Amino acid sequence: MKVLVIDDEKLIRWSFEKHLGARGYKVFSAETGEQGIEIFKNEIPDVIFIDNKLPNIQGIEVVKKIRAIDGDCVIVFMTAYGSIDTAVKAMKSGASEYINKPFSNKEIDLILERIKEKARRFAELNILQKKQKEDITFDQIIGNSTAIKKVIQLSKKIAKTEATTILLLGESGTGKDIFARAIHNCSTRNHKSFVTINCSSLPETLLESELFGYEKGAFTDAQKLKKGLFEIAEGGTVFLDEIGEISPAMQVKLLNVLENRQVRRLGGTVDIPVNIRIIAATNQNLEKAIAEKKFRNDLYYRLKVFQIDLPPLRERIDDILLLADYFIKEFNILFQKKIKYIDNEAKKIFQQYTWPGNVRELKNVIERAVILENNGSLHIESMPQEILALLPGVQKQKEKSFQDKVLNNTDFSLPDEGISLIQLEKQLLKQALLKAKNNQTKAAKLLGISRDTLRYKKKKHNL
Ligand SMILES: Nc1ncnc2c1ncn2[C@@H]1O[C@H](COP(=O)(O)OP(=O)(O)OP(=O)(O)O)[C@@H](O)[C@H]1O
Ligand SMILES: [Mg+2]
Repeated sequence: MKVLVIDDEKLIRWSFEKHLGARGYKVFSAETGEQGIEIFKNEIPDVIFIDNKLPNIQGIEVVKKIRAIDGDCVIVFMTAYGSIDTAVKAMKSGASEYINKPFSNKEIDLILERIKEKARRFAELNILQKKQKEDITFDQIIGNSTAIKKVIQLSKKIAKTEATTILLLGESGTGKDIFARAIHNCSTRNHKSFVTINCSSLPETLLESELFGYEKGAFTDAQKLKKGLFEIAEGGTVFLDEIGEISPAMQVKLLNVLENRQVRRLGGTVDIPVNIRIIAATNQNLEKAIAEKKFRNDLYYRLKVFQIDLPPLRERIDDILLLADYFIKEFNILFQKKIKYIDNEAKKIFQQYTWPGNVRELKNVIERAVILENNGSLHIESMPQEILALLPGVQKQKEKSFQDKVLNNTDFSLPDEGISLIQLEKQLLKQALLKAKNNQTKAAKLLGISRDTLRYKKKKHNL
């Protein structure tokens, strides 16, 4: 933990350095506010002790200035015994604690213990909240196909290595995101942050300041120091999604981070070492991008220290129904439905369809179907048109067999004296319902109409 002491009294600085230095703190000290602020900017200490009476700028002003640069650091204000007013003013200006002079080393220890305890509890709370949202482990990655099992096994292994850079490749919706999270959560870095940024969602300058941060005054709008994501993720993982989209200039900067494991804030003069694992992902063909001179070869090789290829869903047909069942259970809970299974026709379609949007598309299809279905199973009727349309074979077959029934069955030939179509419809409805033992879905199927149409016709005929 880094501590900065700003006090013009040499004895005070010396005693902080000696006492806290012996306890393993890294102590920096400054005689004036200006000096202190300079050190603060370079070192970003965790705790800053600021004396009230300083030459030139007063303690309270220093508090305000530091607070303006960093909203998170802990500032302890030191004030002479009895000057409660000043202490209150300091707290209002952004100090986190105050301590009355003269104080003993024991008091310093207590205050630092309290600060650490607070930080620990805060971190715990944060972790807890995060866990609920993002606690994705390999247990939540579903799949029984050889292809996915191999990938899961590989990912678990690589997760355990300290900082190996990982490149996740796969079509949209194949699970790059979920794998990146699972790898982080399964690694020794899991108690530190997992920060993710979509490289294609921000314009270049914004992406740069997000990743690298900036010093106060680095540009017109830089009113406060801002740490970049690489710094924020210290000890943890940075997930760079859609890496194929970054500009040539950003590629050079990223290459530097990977090679030297350090970052420099925009407008900064010092290189800050970072201990991070980088996981990059893309659905683009990077080799093609390299051939087209859009992506740097050297960066590609730095990224693919370990490459994981996520197979598209159509190449692991075994997983489709397994995933479908998993999502049905998930959406049953969400929408309070009780869907138990997928009917055979729908199963067949699921296995034939090519799923260009992969697992995400399957998940969306199931979500929609679960919302639409009111019975215990999922049917072809609740599948979106694009799936049915992409399967002309299945649809035509269905239409043809229905046509065949109508055309070839003598029961359907029009009698010479004619017939009341309305009465015929009523009869057919009755028979279908009887045959289907009043199961509307089955009855509708027997008549080649949707359940909604069946319901409407039942009402019309007062059945
Ligand atoms: N094997 C799996 N088991 C369970 N859920 C999965 C699996 N693979 C993907 N999913 C789910 O499918 C959806 C899409 O996955 P994800 O966002 O990880 O894909 P992606 O490869 O990052 O896609 P994109 O390239 O579009 O960003 C998510 O809701 C994810 O939880
Ligand atoms: Mg993704």
